[in-house]
Amino acid sequence: MAEEKPRQFVGSVEFKKGLEGAITNESAISYVDGANGKLIYRGYSIDDLCAGGGGYEETAYLLLNGNLPTQAELDLFNADLALRRSIPQEAKDLIVQIANKCHPMSTLRTAVSLLGCLNPREFEVTVENDYDIALTLTAQFPTLVAAIQRARRGEFLIEPDVTKGLSEDFLRMMTGETPDARTVEVMDMALIIHAEHGMNASTFSSMVTNSSLTDFYSSIVAGIGSLKGPLHGGANEATLRTFQEIGDPATTEDWFAAAKEKKVKVMGFGHRVYKAYDPRARLFDPIAREFAERAGTSHLYEIAKKLEALVVADLGGKGIFPNVDFFSGIIYDAMGIDTDMFTPIFAVPRIAGWSARILEYLPENRLFRPRAVYIGDLESQYTPIAERG
Ligand code: CMC
Repeated sequence: MAEEKPRQFVGSVEFKKGLEGAITNESAISYVDGANGKLIYRGYSIDDLCAGGGGYEETAYLLLNGNLPTQAELDLFNADLALRRSIPQEAKDLIVQIANKCHPMSTLRTAVSLLGCLNPREFEVTVENDYDIALTLTAQFPTLVAAIQRARRGEFLIEPDVTKGLSEDFLRMMTGETPDARTVEVMDMALIIHAEHGMNASTFSSMVTNSSLTDFYSSIVAGIGSLKGPLHGGANEATLRTFQEIGDPATTEDWFAAAKEKKVKVMGFGHRVYKAYDPRARLFDPIAREFAERAGTSHLYEIAKKLEALVVADLGGKGIFPNVDFFSGIIYDAMGIDTDMFTPIFAVPRIAGWSARILEYLPENRLFRPRAVYIGDLESQYTPIAERG
């Protein structure tokens, strides 16, 4: 057998930090057109899906099953999801116990882990069983997140209402009030927009985890853990905090000058794939304006637009534009949702994307196992501990 040369890859590999440009697998689930600022789910643009009237459930069906449903198929799917929406008492107890002690993403991560422990078929790794779990989690995520929001405020938890659509019920379970039609429409659109996004960090994390043929819940827990970081889904809450820190539109310029001086990244800008305007931010922009006006927080929108103009003038040439997390926080804030809850809301529909990717890869599964370029010593002399100075 030929001896492998130390510190070199076998074959020719161009190494880029953060796996930039690396290919993981072939997929027919979504396409992020970074050059033209387009996002496509299984051939359909997110603009068409948002405008189409089928709601988030239609998008979840499309991602999980590969085609748009007929009305009869969508009705059945909706009814099935509605029946799966409730969560076990153990999960409610856990949420009540820990929700005000940690970040809601940590509560969500822990609750999903518990759901795995409670499922006697947790370890049955087949497409059929994983699809069944994916459907149940897709239905349960709104209930979990709504319960977390209420428990951390010390409010009683609200049971799902099977007669309502997922977005309406999600808002109702979270706030305790019947939401107006426009708020439901916008939440539905937010869920569609966040459902899937190529080989992003949390999707990759969940796929890597699942590729060891571990249970589905562990893979979703990995996805939640990754999504929570500020460079990924956690940016939506960090962005709103930036606007609040700036406080007054008139101080935006000074804030940005100071940020540049300190070389800090401005949250809500930039993307590994988009080098044009993120289509999700483009869809959210006018809604952020509308909702900020409704809620009397127009100063936040004004700050956002000033910051956008400053950053784009300075960094647009490098392909840095607002991303999905730039305007979403203004909308959720105007809906009365706590800032800490923004990333869990991102997770509510992303379960569909994570699940679709895992299910697509499972039949052709091969363990993800990349390598690192070893730059350490190779011939260090071992000294017994008693002889070390
Ligand atoms: N503000 C200022 N400069 C930036 C920013 C930013 N938000 N993003 C990238 N840059 C600069 C960066 O400093 C670097 O400059 P230079 O080449 O001079 O060193 C260059 O652009 C490339 O940056 P990078 O960090 O190597 O790019 P990346 O592809 O690794 O990172 C990113 C992508 C999203 C992590 C990054 O743009 C970032 O940290 N943005 C802020 C956090 C954020 O908004 N995340 C949400 C992403 S979209 C939602 C999601 O899918 O999670």
